[in-house]
Amino acid sequence: MGRGTAVAGCPVARRPASDRFQAMDVSFDVLVVGAGCAGMRAAIEAHDAGARVAVVSKLHPTRSHSGAAEGGINAALGNKAEDSPETHAFDTVKGSDYLGDQDAIEIFTREAPGDIYQLEGWGCVFSRNAEGKLDQRPFGAAGSPRTVYSADITGHVLIQVLYEQLQRRMSEGLVVFEEYFAFRLVEDGGRCTGVICWDLLHGGVKAVTGSATILATGGAGRLFRATTNAYACTGDGMAMALRAGLPLKDMEFMQFHPTTMYPSGILITEGCRGEGGYLLNKDGERFMKRYAPNALELASRDVVSRSETTEIEAGRGVNGSVMLDLRHLGPEKILNKLPGSRELAMTYAGVDPIFAPIPVRPGAHYHMGGVETDEWGLTPLEGLYAAGEVACVSVHGANRLGGNSLMETITFGRRAGRHAAEYALGRTAAANGRAETARADAEAWVDGLLAVEQGERPWQIRDELGQSMLENFGVFRYPDKMDRQVGIIDELRHRYGRGVVIEDKGTVFNSDLTQAIELGYLLDLAACMLQAGVVRKESRGAHSRPSDFPERDDENFMKHSITTWVDGAPQLSYREVRMTKWEPMVRSY
Ligand code: FUM
Repeated sequence: MGRGTAVAGCPVARRPASDRFQAMDVSFDVLVVGAGCAGMRAAIEAHDAGARVAVVSKLHPTRSHSGAAEGGINAALGNKAEDSPETHAFDTVKGSDYLGDQDAIEIFTREAPGDIYQLEGWGCVFSRNAEGKLDQRPFGAAGSPRTVYSADITGHVLIQVLYEQLQRRMSEGLVVFEEYFAFRLVEDGGRCTGVICWDLLHGGVKAVTGSATILATGGAGRLFRATTNAYACTGDGMAMALRAGLPLKDMEFMQFHPTTMYPSGILITEGCRGEGGYLLNKDGERFMKRYAPNALELASRDVVSRSETTEIEAGRGVNGSVMLDLRHLGPEKILNKLPGSRELAMTYAGVDPIFAPIPVRPGAHYHMGGVETDEWGLTPLEGLYAAGEVACVSVHGANRLGGNSLMETITFGRRAGRHAAEYALGRTAAANGRAETARADAEAWVDGLLAVEQGERPWQIRDELGQSMLENFGVFRYPDKMDRQVGIIDELRHRYGRGVVIEDKGTVFNSDLTQAIELGYLLDLAACMLQAGVVRKESRGAHSRPSDFPERDDENFMKHSITTWVDGAPQLSYREVRMTKWEPMVRSY
């Protein structure tokens, strides 16, 4: 069925009432799960390729976590200094500590500039330089100032523009099921045919089918207590894929962003250091001189986070933080280029950075691992794609460069949308035979969850998980702590498996229910991360084992970890890194 086909009863279903949902044809060519930058960009592309598209999202699209991205989006435009896709690719390969797949990285950096100009054409208000060109700021580990930005609210600006484009297509038949929480994949005859969701507004378990399904559900930062991630970032897509038998790649690599505000964990953008901000310890020393004498505060994130943690653990921190000093930038620069960061610091730390430094520390920010895909976002399950943080293509390897994730959402969201549409339009509609059975099974499962009357509340387990992950699997990883964490996760999974009590038995915005389901996802993903981390006996990118394996070991570990779920437990294997032209070198910044 092609674009613009009327949907029975509700051509533009922004929020269909429950009974109208029943009246709708909920079979689509392409179904996108998640409505952040990757999801919206994929949906736009699939629609423009002629597919009948639906988006299912547990949040309203403009509330997606992509909107929290601040500092910018990387493309080699060369507007501020000489640059090229090749230099961008090299920086990304080196930043990844040579674990990124180089063919995917080359595609990414080659296509990024065109995607930026398309966003500009759609009305994205990027900051400009004196010549009127798109301005670019320096970001960590980048060989040229290449981060295009909108002051320090770049994600917010992108989300608004993509939502405008989505809305235009909604008037042409694209359907958005906002506040629908997808929690299971439907598989039929070796092919993904859609998802089962919980209708957050009205309650009830619904099936939405698609000839192709694209997961764009974001990351899993809520595994850690100190994180920049929104409450919604609970690894839903990764866990759904894992439970459906799909491989997850490089699960051990969680990036800690060096500047998250103390104590809230709110992101203070790398753009602050890009604009010239310093990191100071309690003695007022610019300590990065000792760790990265050339790049200083603009070394790669793994390096800066480790340096800060070393300072804090050596007693040279201030209340478990270091200080981000912007005062020397002066009010004009702060007000023009970093107004959002100033406002956040004033609101959440009681500090005006024009006059005083901001307390910051590393916090879980971005998961480099995810559902294994090829360079079109296709997973090993026919009809299933993934794009954005949920996916592992892999362009980030063991450590992502700041500014590369927004770009990844756009470039790989577009590619997944195009490929999924071509796949869906080139074949007969997905079989819907399994959807009703899968829906009924899922409904019985949800009824079972709601029926539990005695036991623990989910938040107890969630809090212990977040705290212990931070303590035992954070910036530095030690063998005894990892072993302890394996035991803690086993115990938490056992407690969760006994049944948790959902006190709210209602149907309308039952966050008690959805959080209980999300907790199950987080626990499974934690088990995968720990297993992959324990077995990776080296230090690479964000996986740092200072006491037992302090060096990178290319001979034994320049390979991706692959985790599948077998009999309720993670099982590990490895896959070679795809190289094109860059041999691994020792990294220094
Ligand atoms: O620091 C930041 O603005 C974050 C950017 C990113 O994670 O890419």
